[in-house]
Amino acid sequence: HNHIDHATVERVEAAISAGDTHAHVPDYENYKSYQNSGGYASFLTLRADGNWEDVQSLIKESGLRGLGGAGFPSGTKWGFVRGNAGPRYLAVNGDEGEPGTFKDRFHLERTPHLFLEGMLIAAWAVEADRCYIYMRDEYPAVLEILRREIAALEEAGLAPAGYIELRRGAGAYICGEESAMIESIEGKRGLPRHRPPYVAQVGLFGQPTLVHNVETLHWIARICREGPEVLNATVKNGRTGLRSYSVSGRVANPGVHLLPAGSTITDIIEAAGGMLAGHQFKAYQPGGPSSGLLPASMDDIPLDFDTLQPHGSFIGSAAVVVLSDQDSAKAAALNMLRFFEDESCGQCTPCRVGCEKAVKLMEAEIWDKPLLEELCTAMGDASICGLGQAAPNPIRMVIKHFHDEV
Ligand code: NAI
Ligand code: SF4
Repeated sequence: HNHIDHATVERVEAAISAGDTHAHVPDYENYKSYQNSGGYASFLTLRADGNWEDVQSLIKESGLRGLGGAGFPSGTKWGFVRGNAGPRYLAVNGDEGEPGTFKDRFHLERTPHLFLEGMLIAAWAVEADRCYIYMRDEYPAVLEILRREIAALEEAGLAPAGYIELRRGAGAYICGEESAMIESIEGKRGLPRHRPPYVAQVGLFGQPTLVHNVETLHWIARICREGPEVLNATVKNGRTGLRSYSVSGRVANPGVHLLPAGSTITDIIEAAGGMLAGHQFKAYQPGGPSSGLLPASMDDIPLDFDTLQPHGSFIGSAAVVVLSDQDSAKAAALNMLRFFEDESCGQCTPCRVGCEKAVKLMEAEIWDKPLLEELCTAMGDASICGLGQAAPNPIRMVIKHFHDEV
């Protein structure tokens, strides 16, 4: 933030206003090809003569849970939103800011209409007056694809003009927190709100709002087209469904790997082509920096919602980063806390001051563990939102699993 090159900013802004987004738009399935292969048939049938509760039952049967990372049951959420009087809105969280997460981008740059159809179905189900897509500006190709394809939907009469509004995020991680995203869409600074009330009750412009992650909507379209079996037919290690793991770090083939939700880190490394030559598996971040770091010895846990809770961690948006013997767990945790320090919105003291203090303490050669523990407790107990509450996780897990390094 301290090194803004104003000349570059001006050049980029001029290029954008001249219509040159510098986006390298990949080949993707456009409206015509999606429609030719049966796309939008589900939405049109439902819109003509559907019962939202039947679709809700299908979603529940599939076991779909929110894929932004929290894993809240998607069908249940529809019921909460419908339970409040309208007007209602739908807000799509496309602010994929979790370090290591790039699955939404992966799906959007290939099959944007699965997402768009899922969005129209969800909006129909909760009778939303309008859909807002909050998309991170760091994905210029995705923004360009969505601009083109929303126009195609309007032209085809699938959505009235103005029904889908595309909003660009501006690079703040905290704007991916759903209530901060809503503040940002309303044109305010992105500060998380206290919960309750949940956004299902009081969301955009004070109205009930359905918030879904991009990939959740992708699966809603697939469930409506292919049935709940598209998810619930896959069972592994006692877990049901599929997960788009974003895999990076010391693996041979980093990328998004669609695997059973019960996959372990061993399965994931194998799907990613194994470890990079010359590297030995040492540790992994299972789901973003707030999920901390687990040692290689914990390689038999199914990486699904709830299964990591007993270990003080969670799978979140499945941002798996693999570390090797050439990496330092201490340095990785410090990097994570520096990220939180940078991205804290500053609204509450335990997080704003706590992240800064934690970074200072973690820069020491030997950590003052009792003091760090005390700080972690204050941050976890007294922060308003998930950022401050989960920021202590990497500290605690390095103390627990990589004691020798600190
Ligand atoms: P949460 O569990 O508090 O809420 C999840 C969803 O369920 C929200 O939409 C919330 O409004 C709804 N909800 C929960 N209880 C409800 C109730 N009683 N009534 C009505 N609605 C209810 O989790 P949160 O804070 O929204 O998300 C945390 C997750 O976000 C973390 O697990 C983390 O992995 C993930 N995350 C993902 C990022 C990404 O780039 N995909 C970035 C940062 C965090
Ligand atoms: Fe802002 Fe951090 Fe407080 Fe969340 S916990 S509201 S990011 S200061």
